[in-house]
Amino acid sequence: MKKIVALVLLLCCSVIAQQTAFETAQQKAAALLAQMTLPEKVGQMIQIERDVAEKNPEVITNYFIGSVLSGGGSAPRVGNQPQQWADMVAGFQRKALATRLKIPLLYGIDAVHGHNNVFGATIFPHNIGLGATRNPALVKEIGRITADEVYATGIRWTFSPCLCVSRDERWGRAYESFGETPELATMMSSIIEGYQGTNLSDKGSVLATAKHFLGDGGTIYGTGTKGKIDQGDTRGADAALKALHLPPFVAAVQKGVGSVMPSFSSWNGLKMHAHKNLIEGVLKTELKFTGFVISDWQAIDQIPVSSYTEKMAISINAGLDMIMVPFDYQNAIRALLDNVKSGAISMARIDDAVLRILTQKYLLGLFEQALPDTSNIAQIGSSQHRKIARQAVAESLVLLKNKDNLLPLPKNAKILVTGSHINDIGLQSGGWTKTWQGQAGAITPGTTILEGLRQVAPNANITALEYPEAKDLTPKKFDFALIAIGERPYAEGNGDNADLDLESRSEALVRNVCATTRCVVVLVTGRPVNISRILPLAHAVVAAWLPGTEGAGISDVFFGDNNFVGTLPMSWFKSVDQLPLNIGDSKYDPLFAYGFGLKYPSK
Ligand code: GLC
Repeated sequence: MKKIVALVLLLCCSVIAQQTAFETAQQKAAALLAQMTLPEKVGQMIQIERDVAEKNPEVITNYFIGSVLSGGGSAPRVGNQPQQWADMVAGFQRKALATRLKIPLLYGIDAVHGHNNVFGATIFPHNIGLGATRNPALVKEIGRITADEVYATGIRWTFSPCLCVSRDERWGRAYESFGETPELATMMSSIIEGYQGTNLSDKGSVLATAKHFLGDGGTIYGTGTKGKIDQGDTRGADAALKALHLPPFVAAVQKGVGSVMPSFSSWNGLKMHAHKNLIEGVLKTELKFTGFVISDWQAIDQIPVSSYTEKMAISINAGLDMIMVPFDYQNAIRALLDNVKSGAISMARIDDAVLRILTQKYLLGLFEQALPDTSNIAQIGSSQHRKIARQAVAESLVLLKNKDNLLPLPKNAKILVTGSHINDIGLQSGGWTKTWQGQAGAITPGTTILEGLRQVAPNANITALEYPEAKDLTPKKFDFALIAIGERPYAEGNGDNADLDLESRSEALVRNVCATTRCVVVLVTGRPVNISRILPLAHAVVAAWLPGTEGAGISDVFFGDNNFVGTLPMSWFKSVDQLPLNIGDSKYDPLFAYGFGLKYPSK
């Protein structure tokens, strides 16, 4: 009983402490706001891209710019090493501190599966794999490690997590989702506590972003860009859509998330960046969200009215507080000033937006410690961090088939290792890695699937042939074959895909290899794909998702040191004609159900 009382008291004290910290920060922000001119206020609402700031750093001082971001893959011009990032951010910060009121800059980046833009950073499985772990404590620790690595480069804000509830795997961002149910996305919102820590001002804490509000994963195929699905329209009865897509954001606000990013998509035909009822009404008023709302990349440009000035008025009045411009900052500032002058945007709305932004900057401790603290920079990509990433890979694997208990493999077996994805860090990391779209190749330090096999089973007789010839495939030549195949990297709309077939070359490889050798197929994909033709041919099939840099996590399970624990975060379809296909559908006939996952028999 005493323990329970102590825990409750501890929790109450923590909540009170956080509320007090918030009130103190808000008071300081209000006092600063009272001193600010309109151009200084408007500058805080503008976020520009790194390239603009590097080309002309004086822009930050002259226009009182409050924030800079790196778009996907946007690294410092001099190079992509951690110290070069910290030096660049320090340079921008000094430009901000050269303004009259010395308001520090807030730098934002998409650290969505580790500090994925930075060379040598620990790259974790993408969210779809983390959803398969069903381990919120592990995901919180991944947030903590990612925050440590981001913080060490002087950056204090990540545009993560995506709390999208992905309802259709034809969406190119399905892998950024934790899964197809609100419960799973809500569970994994624990990553916010990892990113933000108990105090935003603590060393290693960064601001998190709950994105993309609201319904980004529920769009209808055919309503998106290029007639596909990304940035499309989420349609249905409000109550039903809110029941599906809102719970993870309720959890995020309850966890004190500091920023929210609206979606490019629409909600029953209305662009989310113009949706006052959902942003101002639901998020800020009903949920009492006290952080700030940051737009997506040039997203207000999509608001279907002719003038940019009117687009700006609509979005700010809908509840946007900061605009990810990211290039034409002069036009954005002009539009804001013109709207205030005309009365289209009230000064009260401007003050509310700036107060929200400044409050988060005070909570982050930026006024006390604006310049980067790189004392932990050696921790970036450290073996301790990679160990956790390797555990996450192991726990993310889902065993779909294991005929004759082919797995686990003996550690002294003769194994043919083959397929496009056996030895490529870029392919196993997917999009949002080093570049926006990701790319094949040895793009950053890590352990490929093949290297992991050799590390974990040094006595195995492993022959690696990406594409073996007939002579290599005589029966009995190998005890087993491991075939790693999957998707090429993509991000956002570039990943929209209606047929979800594996490459024909990969399917042919499975046919040829599995005809002569007992085989396990490893699927390196960002989502369920069409396996109807290969499933009957393989003894074992494993979904490995997009594991990131620690490929040895796969071997930890394949050789039996660990058991499978992963279960499907998305229903696995029989045919794409079934899509969208989700647990709870009245007609639900998947190949493998949401939550399915085999394990090794207990010894
Ligand atoms: C992108 C994405 C968003 C990301 C932002 C900044 O277009 O939609 O998730 O945070 O732009 O890179």
